[in-house]
Amino acid sequence: MKKIQISPSILSADFSQLGNEIKRLEESGADMIHVDVMDGHFVPNLTIGPPVIEALKKQSSIPFDVHLMISPVHKYIQDYASAGADIITIHPEATEDLNSSITKIKKLNKKVGVSLNPQTKIDAITEYLDKIDLVLIMSVNPGFGGQKFMPEVLDKIKDLNKIKEKKNFNFDIEIDGGINFDNSKKAIQAGANILVSGTTIFKSNNGDIKKNIELLKSK
Ligand code: DX5
Ligand code: ZN
Repeated sequence: MKKIQISPSILSADFSQLGNEIKRLEESGADMIHVDVMDGHFVPNLTIGPPVIEALKKQSSIPFDVHLMISPVHKYIQDYASAGADIITIHPEATEDLNSSITKIKKLNKKVGVSLNPQTKIDAITEYLDKIDLVLIMSVNPGFGGQKFMPEVLDKIKDLNKIKEKKNFNFDIEIDGGINFDNSKKAIQAGANILVSGTTIFKSNNGDIKKNIELLKSK
């Protein structure tokens, strides 16, 4: 079993203090920084892009876990790699050719993630599981922080974990959306090893990020 890692989503951070927020996350034990990139087209919300990521990257030494909710994604992959993304995660629905987008990310020497929306089945990516580094299971419909966790995705994590063990694959299983101190344990038991969290990390326990990271890691 892989070590449990926490990837706080800066979507819930104070946007007027992003550089300081990133430093605070690193000092509080975050394993990586989850950056939600939204285009107002693939999802009905708009966030940040490469220039902001490039500026923030200078404030941190932990990996940037960049979740691209943009379509068409392929032509922008290079920009996010250059901006400093360490993991680039894309949605199958956002590219005309998933295989070539995966190949492009790998050629840029970045870790490649593929994300499954709550309604998207594992079948959409089965043929690529031997070459990707991470599967991001969405436990809300992408677009906004602070939504309610969808427990039905836990079965998908269990099924994915079974395939992983049977075939001896090495990808990480990351879960994203509505994670709290209760469902985090269920997600870990189902087989997730990276937990994304925005609201719980930044808002619980009066914003005690260190405590919230520790609580999310506990099984
Ligand atoms: C949703 C994003 C998530 C989300 C996490 O589209 O991908 O990363 O912001 O935030 P919480 O933990 O608040 O659901
Ligand atoms: Zn995300």
